[in-house]
Amino acid sequence: MKNIETYIESEYPRFEKDFFEFLRIPSISTDPAYKEEVKAAAQWVADLLTRIGLKPELVATQRHPLVYAETPKVPDAPTVMIYGHFDVQPPDPLDQWKTPPFEPTVRGDNVFARGATDDKGQFLTHVFAVEALLKSGEPLPFQIKMIFEGEEEDGSESIEAFVSENTGKLACDCLIVSDSTMFGPGKPAITYGLRGIAAFELFLTGPNHDLHSGIFGGSVYNPAIALSKMLSQLIDEKGRVQIPGFYDKVVPISEREGQQFADLPFDEKEFFEGLGLVTGFGEEGYTTLERRWARPTFDINGLTSGYQGDGSKTVLPSTASAKITFRLVPNQTPDDVYKNLEAFLQKICPPGIKMRLQFQHGSGGLLVPLDSPYVDAAEKALQETFACPPVFVRDGGSIPIIAFMSEKLKADVLLLGWGYDDDNLHAPNEKFSLTSFRHGIHASVRLFRQIAGMKKP
Ligand code: BES
Ligand code: ZN
Repeated sequence: MKNIETYIESEYPRFEKDFFEFLRIPSISTDPAYKEEVKAAAQWVADLLTRIGLKPELVATQRHPLVYAETPKVPDAPTVMIYGHFDVQPPDPLDQWKTPPFEPTVRGDNVFARGATDDKGQFLTHVFAVEALLKSGEPLPFQIKMIFEGEEEDGSESIEAFVSENTGKLACDCLIVSDSTMFGPGKPAITYGLRGIAAFELFLTGPNHDLHSGIFGGSVYNPAIALSKMLSQLIDEKGRVQIPGFYDKVVPISEREGQQFADLPFDEKEFFEGLGLVTGFGEEGYTTLERRWARPTFDINGLTSGYQGDGSKTVLPSTASAKITFRLVPNQTPDDVYKNLEAFLQKICPPGIKMRLQFQHGSGGLLVPLDSPYVDAAEKALQETFACPPVFVRDGGSIPIIAFMSEKLKADVLLLGWGYDDDNLHAPNEKFSLTSFRHGIHASVRLFRQIAGMKKP
C-alpha cells in the first residue's frame, strides 16, 4: 500500500496536467454543434485508459459515444463498476466567467473550468486510483469495470440502451459514483438519495406573425403574457406545486430522517449569505435541507419571447416558450408528471393561444439502502482519508442512469461526492478544489483496499 501512496504523490503533477488537458475539450452534450467535441472527450478518456494498461472500448451509439473498460475477472472476489460522465453543460453566460470556461485556470486551491467538478475531475480520481493499483505491480484482488458516458447532462438515453443490452457483461456488485458533493470542505459525505427529474419545453403560439403592439395590443392574447400566467399557476406563494395529482405518490419524510437532517451541522444563514440572499424560499413546513433533498419542486430554466436585444421594441410576439423542470422524489414518476402537467396546462391555456408541451427527459428519484458492506468500506476509507467520519446525506441533483443501472445490474450504489455546493455547477466560474482532487484519489485507493478484503456477496 505504501508504495501506492508514494506513486500517487510522485505522479500527482502529471495527474493534474492530464486533468487540465481534459478540461480543454468543450464536450457540451446538449448542443449539437459540439458533437465532435464530445467524441473527442470520449477518445481522450479511452486513450487515458489505454495508457494505464487497459483495453477500453469506444462504443458508438445513436448519439454520443461511451467508453467501457474492465480488468480481468477474479474468482470469488467482488466486481465493482466505476461510473462517470465526460460531457458538460453549456458554459453560458460567457461574459460572467473570470477566465474562459475551457481554459482551466488555477486560482488558490481551485481549478476553474466548465466540467471541473461536474464531472471530469471527480471521476478521474478513480481512474488515477486504478492506475496506481495497476502500476503497483501486484495483481488486482478484484475486478474493476468502468463506464463513462457523454450524455449525462442530456438524459442518458444511449447508456440506458447499452446497459439493457449488456447486463451480463456489465454485471457488478457495487457501482461507485463520484458526481455529487461533500458536506463541506474537509467534511466527507456518503449520499444515499438523489432527486429525479422531469424536463419539458412548453411552446405557445398566438397570432401567426409578430405584431405592432400599438395597432393590435389589447385585441389579441399576447403569448408572452399567456406564458407567464400559465407558469405562475404551476406554483403558489407557499412553494406548493399546483398540478393536480403531483404529490399523490410522494414518500413523506419520516420523523427520524427529518431529525437526522436537523442534526447535521448546516448553517442556514451562511448558506443564503453565500448566495447573496437574506432569506430562502420553498415549500411551507419544510426546512431548507428537506426542501433541497427530499421534496419535489418546479423550476423555470429558461424563458424566450419577444425582443431580447438592447433598447425597447413595441412588439406583440407571435410565440413564447419556456424550458421547465420538476425535481422528483421517490415514488413519483416522470410519466405521471407528464400526464398531469399536460392536462393542467391544456385546462389553463387562454383563448386564442395554441400550446405544445414537449417532454425532454426524465428519471425517478433514488434512495440507496445503507445496509451494504460497501457502505461500511466507504465509511472507513473516507474516515482514513479526511480524518473525519462521513455524514449521511441526500442531495437534490439527479444522475438519471444510476437507479436504472443499479436495478438492472443488481448492484449496490456508493455515491461519494468530492465536490462542494459552491463549486458553481452549471453556472459561470465552475471550479473544483485541487485538495479534493488529491484526496479523492487517495480515498478511492483506500476504498479499493477495503474492498480487496471482501468476499463476493
Ligand atoms: N453532478 C450532477 C448531479 C448532482 C449535483 C448530484 C450535485 C448531486 C449533487 C449531474 O451532472 C447533473 O447535473 N445532472 C443533471 C441531470 C439532468 C440534466 C438530467 C441535473 O441534476 O440537473
Ligand atoms: Zn451536471
